[in-house]
Amino acid sequence: MTTRIKEIFQTGQPDQSVTVQGWVRTKRELKEFTFLEVNDGSSLANLQVILEPTLPDYENVLKTISTGTAIAVSGNLVPSPGKGQNIELKAAEITLYGDCPADYPLQKKRHSFEFLRTIAHLRARTNTLGAVMRVRNACATAIHTFFQEKGFIWVHTPIITANDCEGAGELFTVTSLDLKKPANFAEDFFGKRAYLTVSGQLQAEVMAMALSNVYTFGPTFRAENSNTSRHLAEFWMVEPEMAFCDLEGDQDLAEAFLKYIFKFVLENCPEDLQFFNERIDKTVLSTAENIVNSEFGRITYSEAIELLEKADRQFEFPVEWGVDLQSEHERYLAEELFKKPVIVTNYPKTIKAFYMRLDDSNKTVSAMDILAPKIGEIIGGSQREERLDVLIQRMQEQGMNPDDLWWYLELRRYGSVPHAGFGLGFERLVQFMTGMTNIRDVIPFPRTPLSADF
Ligand code: 4AD
Ligand code: MG
Repeated sequence: MTTRIKEIFQTGQPDQSVTVQGWVRTKRELKEFTFLEVNDGSSLANLQVILEPTLPDYENVLKTISTGTAIAVSGNLVPSPGKGQNIELKAAEITLYGDCPADYPLQKKRHSFEFLRTIAHLRARTNTLGAVMRVRNACATAIHTFFQEKGFIWVHTPIITANDCEGAGELFTVTSLDLKKPANFAEDFFGKRAYLTVSGQLQAEVMAMALSNVYTFGPTFRAENSNTSRHLAEFWMVEPEMAFCDLEGDQDLAEAFLKYIFKFVLENCPEDLQFFNERIDKTVLSTAENIVNSEFGRITYSEAIELLEKADRQFEFPVEWGVDLQSEHERYLAEELFKKPVIVTNYPKTIKAFYMRLDDSNKTVSAMDILAPKIGEIIGGSQREERLDVLIQRMQEQGMNPDDLWWYLELRRYGSVPHAGFGLGFERLVQFMTGMTNIRDVIPFPRTPLSADF
């Protein structure tokens, strides 16, 4: 039976006999004995292991162990005289699984995140990327727990689809291809057009029209060739969809949702968040506390434009009613004016998707974006257009053929109800939580215009 290192730090007692398995981070040879730092990914902290010359085959063991070596260590826990941790392991037996030659790229020194991206297959063994993966896991757990506690049903929407939900034309196409034959890219999805989904929303709406409250949590794809620190070509999205819900209910749920996730991670990953706060961004902990304890700002798009027009600065993109908010505007509002997340509602219909509910003014739609400090848009959502005639008109206005979405329109013919939902960009959430500046460093294998190997 092996024990995870996290458990040893939580419940390990002196004299307890344990076996741990992990990778050696460092080896420090002194005259009388040798120290190893071993990590198994369960916690940020390494377990200190002491090897004494009485250990069977001591000299040989020392020769084969180096940074990166995979080992199992059995022995007794002893109180640690050093500062930092209370317990360490005195080795009685060492098993070597895999040695690690000196060209191992993760030698003990600081590596840039840029360099680490070129070794995505190894970088989870570093402190930062390991902590990112644990926080990412905690965020995902919090998301499921939040919705499950509220009785939402997790639905699995397709990855391959015929629709462009957002209408932004940022699609990857799916083509069947026999690698043994010369490529024929015209031969697409069994004679039909098919794409990788940009959002599970339309299918989630189908499910909400039967199950009332549902959510999706899966990969989505955008063929935007943008090399920014906030865009990926493949990212994960969480999309709740609620029948009998309006824009206000949508905002309330989104705010409660973000608060829940931050509280959950604060409680479940305190060491990792502390690490990010010390090493990556010294506002990580105060931001998390602020999310949990403060009410989000709520303004309309028109109010946002007024605030931006009054701003004491020149923006690169000038603002006037009707323009889409750029990241510099979003960040000014959330980071500098509100200093907390702010929900902006009722955007002009011309800059939003066809499915958003038209307001009485006929100029705006019941949209909402949540803007977060340092990130900008983290959530995008809306109340959906439930009136068949208005929906058809909106599709036509945007140059869409209503027949292409005949099944979506039928939802408005058969027992239509007001409904609303939103999409949370999962990697932007993890960025927000950890303070990591580049979105490529919060997903195990980033898909961006420049990555292909992994
Ligand atoms: O605002 P978006 O495009 O909204 C939708 O897709 C809706 N169908 C959601 C819904 O109402 N069910 O995307 C939602 C969120 C954004 O707020 C952002 O956080 C994230 O997805 N996102 C991206 N994250 C990483 N890389 C990209 N290229 C992203 N594009 C959007
Ligand atoms: Mg959006």
